[in-house]
Amino acid sequence: MSAKIISGKEIAGTIRDELNEQVAALAKEGLVPGLATVLAGDDPASRLYVGMKNKAAAAAGIHSRQITLSDSVGETELLDLISELNADPAIHGILVQLPLPRQIDESKVLLAIDPDKDVDGFHPVNVGRLATGDPNVLAPCTPRGVIEMLVRSGVDPSGKHAVVVGRSNIVGKPMALLLLRKAAGGNATVTVAHSRTRDLGAVTRTADILIAAVGWPNTVTRDMVKPGVTVIDVGTNRVDDPSRERGYRVVGDVDFEGVSEVASAITPVPGGVGPMTIAMLLANTVEAAIRQNSGAR
Ligand code: GUN
Repeated sequence: MSAKIISGKEIAGTIRDELNEQVAALAKEGLVPGLATVLAGDDPASRLYVGMKNKAAAAAGIHSRQITLSDSVGETELLDLISELNADPAIHGILVQLPLPRQIDESKVLLAIDPDKDVDGFHPVNVGRLATGDPNVLAPCTPRGVIEMLVRSGVDPSGKHAVVVGRSNIVGKPMALLLLRKAAGGNATVTVAHSRTRDLGAVTRTADILIAAVGWPNTVTRDMVKPGVTVIDVGTNRVDDPSRERGYRVVGDVDFEGVSEVASAITPVPGGVGPMTIAMLLANTVEAAIRQNSGAR
């Protein structure tokens, strides 16, 4: 079998076209969604991601404000900035890029963001809303993007066995909760596997839908999947490649060549989940703006 490619790039493009129209219609009613992104420090990957998020927001007609702070920023300064953004009526979504510099307590910062402006879905209130099945929750962008990819490519998780490999707060845990939700795109039977799982292959071979989110290349190989499985690869790992001018290439957590011989559908890396994360950030920002404008919550 040679798997169908689920192109996140294509699906994200469709979603962004839909959002462009929605944002234009909102602007006619006098509502311009606003997104603030906060980057603390000079990590090159974080700088690249935040730049891409701002560019995408601006291209969608979203008012975007990027705040860059030095690597030595104090916790109080960052918390004061978040208070200012919480109070700013032109800002409906706040994203603080992680990881933060060592001297900053990440949990304090996430807790300071107004949950209704938390477009990353990382605030404990939103984690709780997701866990309790609140349909209006702002859900974390990457797992939300995965659900959109499944649904829009005709893979309904309902009744299927979904195995999530990885238990991070950003992807693995919210991914499992979204798949479990009693809602469209959910209703799966969910197993979460992780670094301490014994005989990972025995678990992954039972998956109808397999989500790999561990951050390690070649974690899922051909012998670890069942024929016909749908595979979503969330990994973005740099591996040395002297044949490339920049000296590396980006690969996922899945051995794409081998697994695509067995799976019925698979996402590529790059061009898979990555573009979906940004599209979902824009979708969350628009949703947050509409809710804040209608006085909901
Ligand atoms: N760092 C890696 N992924 C993310 C993300 O989705 N949001 C934020 N804020 N930081 C990240």
